[in-house]
Amino acid sequence: MKVISIVGARPQFIKLGPFSKVLRENASEIIIHTGQHYDEKMSDLLFKDLKIPAPDYNLNIGSGTQGVQTAGMLSAIEGILLKEKPDFVVVFGDTNSTLAGALASVKLRIPTVHIEAGLRSFNRDMPEEINRVATDHISDYLFVPTQTGMLNLKNEGLLGKGFLTGDIMVDSLNDNLKKAVEISKVEEQFGLHSDFFLLTLHRPYNVDDPSNLKQIVSKLGNLNKHIVFPIHPRTKNILEAHKISVPSNILCIPPQGYLDFLKLQWLSKKIITDSGGIQKEAYLLGRACITLRPETEWIETVQHGWNMLLDYLEDDFEEKLLNFLPTGVQPPVFGDGVAKKMVDIIMSL
Ligand code: UD1
Repeated sequence: MKVISIVGARPQFIKLGPFSKVLRENASEIIIHTGQHYDEKMSDLLFKDLKIPAPDYNLNIGSGTQGVQTAGMLSAIEGILLKEKPDFVVVFGDTNSTLAGALASVKLRIPTVHIEAGLRSFNRDMPEEINRVATDHISDYLFVPTQTGMLNLKNEGLLGKGFLTGDIMVDSLNDNLKKAVEISKVEEQFGLHSDFFLLTLHRPYNVDDPSNLKQIVSKLGNLNKHIVFPIHPRTKNILEAHKISVPSNILCIPPQGYLDFLKLQWLSKKIITDSGGIQKEAYLLGRACITLRPETEWIETVQHGWNMLLDYLEDDFEEKLLNFLPTGVQPPVFGDGVAKKMVDIIMSL
């Protein structure tokens, strides 16, 4: 059996790691990298950390508007699928690479699997929400991380294509945490204080408007806390273009590889983010997560008390952030042994 996995952005490499490993024990895999993320630290470093074989094809699409990026991927992927004639195509998550891959594949009537299906923010201002809805509706098989995801599919009449597999990022974390804690020296590399918060920001609605971004960093500057901030290129570009100065309690560092970033999460006291995947990782690691978004697809992390949605415009933003101290356990809502379940299903189809 021949399977083509299509990836392009950092969170997809993290999902591909454990999936590819188990898939290759059972089938032959071809990896297409769209090139949506192309910086060494956003791409090659993740392949290295997660021990993913080098992509068979790199489309080098790079950055661009939604339409330019997605269209470039669509036509390039179609050519490869026509040539390779795979039995299955697998797409991951909610990026432009996901939608382009699924659309190219289903139109050629190749059975198409969407990993991390069923998630919804119900916020159409997010390009990811459009990508998710469209990908779920056109794909043939939907691998769903949570019960909430299954419910969303039911509400959209898609449950017949859904499989509750659990979240593949659990496998990525379980496969790598021990190694990350042992071998990463990220705290020495950057001379980190033992008591710090970790920050990530890259969502267009937080960072694309420079006045929003300026207010967020300035409010975080009011906290009497060390904050470590690995900066996504999108955010760095906007900070630089608008000469926004970052307060001195915030240490800006380059984007980190998977192992170093896991170690940073492990060492941190709290995590402040607008990423989806990091909300889950914080939950799995038992770190308080403050999500700078009005809503989340990972509602279980909020329901079990480990994640708080917080608007930076709230008057008592700083106090709420500092006072958020979850206690108790994290029920295993994201499953375990997920890659094997996924590959077993594909083999049985
Ligand atoms: C994309 C995904 C988002 C995901 C995120 C993870 C979409 C719509 N968004 O957002 O869901 O959470 O990846 O990081 O697909 N850039 C570089 N080097 C790179 C990559 C990007 O400099 O290697 C810069 C470019 O200026 C680019 C900008 O970052 O224009 C944004 O990149 P893009 O791929 O369009 O979206 P992300 O914000 O990374």
